[in-house]
Amino acid sequence: MISESHRFAAVPGQALRGAGSQVERPELAAQLIEQLQDARRRELELFSDLTDEQLIGPEMRIIEPPLWEIGHVGWFQERWILRKLDGAGPLLAQADRLYDSFNIPNALRWRLEFPSRQATLEYLDAVLDRCIRRLAGRQPTDHEAYFYRLALFHEDMHGETLTHIRQTLGYAPPSLSISHGVIPDDPDFEPHDVEVPGGVFCLGATADIPFVFDNEKWAHPVGVAPYRISAAPVTAAEFLRFVEDGGYRDREVWSEAGWEWRLQAAADHPVYWQRDGEHWLRRDFDHITLLPDLLQSLGQADHPSPESLILDHQIGPLP
Ligand SMILES: [Fe+2]
Repeated sequence: MISESHRFAAVPGQALRGAGSQVERPELAAQLIEQLQDARRRELELFSDLTDEQLIGPEMRIIEPPLWEIGHVGWFQERWILRKLDGAGPLLAQADRLYDSFNIPNALRWRLEFPSRQATLEYLDAVLDRCIRRLAGRQPTDHEAYFYRLALFHEDMHGETLTHIRQTLGYAPPSLSISHGVIPDDPDFEPHDVEVPGGVFCLGATADIPFVFDNEKWAHPVGVAPYRISAAPVTAAEFLRFVEDGGYRDREVWSEAGWEWRLQAAADHPVYWQRDGEHWLRRDFDHITLLPDLLQSLGQADHPSPESLILDHQIGPLP
């Protein structure tokens, strides 16, 4: 989930920072442009097929109206590149009153007078076009590169949010041009726990790491007590056994905080699972599958494997 508290108090220092590795200066502008265009392509794939009614959708604390999402992405890019770096005025006079996530609470986002779908998309285009054109024929400074990456990663995070909105509201799955890599099952894997002896480790980013968000600053030692943990993520098949064994009603297997959450959420099973008589169903976007069929297709019917499906978090109500 995205936090809308985009806090980033400090701009990095002198080193040239890349998204994951140091980038040679002559390549940096081209790389940033390609990444910005790629993020936008994904964002539009997640947005463009929504109906007019779905552009706003029902009000829920855990989501936002998709039309707000997309306008906010343009506003953020404009705010930190064109307006921050160049001192440019806003392209939309009312943009701060619509899209400023620092100052517009979630509940208000369903009550604003947004530009039309077409006008919003034109605003996004205009901002991105200006952000790209200001790099033409030259390389960005470290200071500029920081804000380009900030806008880039922010747009990627909102791509996740749009995906989450579509799943939460049971919309059709998005048609994405990226391929979905298939990780092969390991038929020999046996679920097991591993012992972690505990000790002190360094949590957070070090100054030599390329772009970091403020909540990753800075690395500091943290003590951890010894513990045991599964060697692989819990699979749907394993969790099904937990649910059918009454795990949601067994106070002994929950932490205090977890039990409080369970009671408050009235949770009896994963949020996108539903019992239908003798069967369990799972909803993915607008598609409902019998859980046993799903497990069979994932190779989890008898032998759960670490590469298989990881469970949804229970973060919203059943549709
Ligand atoms: Fe945001």
